[in-house]
Amino acid sequence: MVSSLDGAAQHDGRSQPISCAADMRIFGTLRGLADVVLVGAETVRKEGYRPARAREAFADRRRAAGQTPAPAVAVISAGLDLDFSAPLFTSPLTPTLILTGEKAREDRKKEAEQAGARVVVAGEGRGVDPARAVAALAGLGLTRLLTEGGPRILGQFIAAGVLDELCLTLSPMVTSGEAQRIADGPGIAVPKRFSLASLLEEEGFLFTRYRRT
Ligand SMILES: NC(=O)c1ccc[n+]([C@@H]2O[C@H](COP(=O)([O-])OP(=O)(O)OC[C@H]3O[C@@H](n4cnc5c(N)ncnc54)[C@H](OP(=O)(O)O)[C@@H]3O)[C@@H](O)[C@H]2O)c1
Repeated sequence: MVSSLDGAAQHDGRSQPISCAADMRIFGTLRGLADVVLVGAETVRKEGYRPARAREAFADRRRAAGQTPAPAVAVISAGLDLDFSAPLFTSPLTPTLILTGEKAREDRKKEAEQAGARVVVAGEGRGVDPARAVAALAGLGLTRLLTEGGPRILGQFIAAGVLDELCLTLSPMVTSGEAQRIADGPGIAVPKRFSLASLLEEEGFLFTRYRRT
C-alpha cells in the first residue's frame, strides 16, 4: 500500500499520483514472490487491472518453489459486476480467481467461468469472509498471499486478524481532500501492534515493511 504524508491512499481515484518508480519496483518484487494477488473489485475497476506478468528475474526462484511463472490474481467481489471480456479474465498466464459468497448471482459466476476464471466461494452470504478466503486459497495450495487493497478490502482483512505483514510506502506528498486512508473497514477494539522489519529510502519516499508482533 502507498500513503501520502497526510494519509491519502489515492488521488483522483488512483494510487499512481502518490507512487514513484521505486514503489513500482517494490510492487513488482512483491508480486514476484507471491502465489496469488488478492484485490478488491473496485480497485480492479478503477485501476484497470491486467494479469500479472512473468518476470525473468523471478523465473528460477518460482520454478524451484513450485510456483506458476506469474501469480494468479484473485478478485474479491460480491456483486460480480466485472468486465469478464477483459484480458484479466480471458488471457492471464495463471487463471484469475474470483472470490465471492455462496449467494452471489449464479449467472455472473457462470459468465466468469466461461471467460476462463475460477470461482472460489468463501462466504455465507453474497460477500467474502476474509478468514475463509485465506483458508480456501490455502486449500488450493496458495499460501503466499499478497493483498493489494483497496482500502475496503485491507480494512476487513485487518479487522478479521488475517493481516500478518504490511508493506507500506510513505510518499513525501500531501493531498488534503477526502481520499480514503489505506484501511477503510470495521474498527477493532484494541489497536494491533506491528514491528518494523525493514526500512528503505529513495528520493524522500520511505519503503517500510512491518510484521505483526
Ligand atoms: N494506496 C494504495 O496503495 C491503494 C491500493 C489499492 C487501491 N487503492 C485505491 O483504492 C480505491 C479503491 O478502493 P476501495 O476501498 O474503494 O475498493 P476495494 O477495496 O478495491 O474494492 C471494494 C469492492 O470489493 C468488493 N468487496 C469488498 N468487501 C467484500 C467482501 N467482504 N466480499 C465480497 N466482495 C467484497 C466489492 O465489490 P463488488 O462491488 O464487485 O461487490 C466492493 O465494491 C481506488 O481508488 C484505488 O486506486 C489504493
